[in-house]
Amino acid sequence: MSVVPRSGEQKVTAPAILARKFPAQDGSFRSTAKITCLTAYDHPSARLVDEAGVDVILVGDSLGMAVLGYDSTLPVTIEDVLHHLRAVRRGTKRALLVADMPYGSYHVSIEESLRNAVRLVKEGGAEAVKVEGGERRIELIARLVEAEIPVMGHVGLTPQSFNSMGGFHVQGKSADASRQVERDARAAEAAGAFAVVLESIPRELAARVTERLRIPTIGIGAGPDCDGQILVFHDLLGLTSGHVPKFARRYADLAGVISQAVTCYCEDVRVGAFPSDAESYHSSSSIRGEATKQTAG
Ligand code: KIV
Repeated sequence: MSVVPRSGEQKVTAPAILARKFPAQDGSFRSTAKITCLTAYDHPSARLVDEAGVDVILVGDSLGMAVLGYDSTLPVTIEDVLHHLRAVRRGTKRALLVADMPYGSYHVSIEESLRNAVRLVKEGGAEAVKVEGGERRIELIARLVEAEIPVMGHVGLTPQSFNSMGGFHVQGKSADASRQVERDARAAEAAGAFAVVLESIPRELAARVTERLRIPTIGIGAGPDCDGQILVFHDLLGLTSGHVPKFARRYADLAGVISQAVTCYCEDVRVGAFPSDAESYHSSSSIRGEATKQTAG
């Protein structure tokens, strides 16, 4: 019997995502069906994404760049994430709801990190949290899991390390660097993460890590061999301006659609074509008659 929840049916949970991966006879690990993940930052987009049957919705700290206009994720605060998370929570029924821990919310002490993660669950309705980093996060991930908070790891290119990495670069390209990515992914798994995001690493490395890990890998810029894929909502819909990485396939040009609609609206207002009589409210005939009499008198 399949444990994969079908679109629109069973609630997706962290254990259900973990259960999609199983050991194969050759010693590698395989998944039953690809895991679909997408970010969302507000109520209408969460509702649309959830109703379309996406398995995991991430309120990513990418909200800093996608909707708050920052040029990195670093300024995003726990209050920012909570604000957007609550809206997404109200629009999400079936998908597993994961909240990103923003930069600074888990970098000072384990106690403070735990408090922040608990806030995301208690005040924002998150069902899991995501933290960036592998070997450096072993203790943190283990403590979060101990506190009953499912954790999604995130290794490879970790955008919160923008300053220490010297920019947004593909990771794991040399032999040493690829070993580090694999150690990081294994560390997240060993600490108790139920899944791990692999961001911007060579396809071959992602395939190897995916085969060796018993937890699902979720790729973004990591090729097609991961157990699942994640994209930023605004990239997928063509709402992002400026540089878009080559892996961010654009499934629609909503920027063009919106721009055209707004231009038409402005034109209609200017020429008096909006609103029409049918789009206007009207007084009752008795009031209209009264007003005519008063004007005449
Ligand atoms: O913040 C985010 O949206 C992310 C995903 C792109 C993995 O971390």
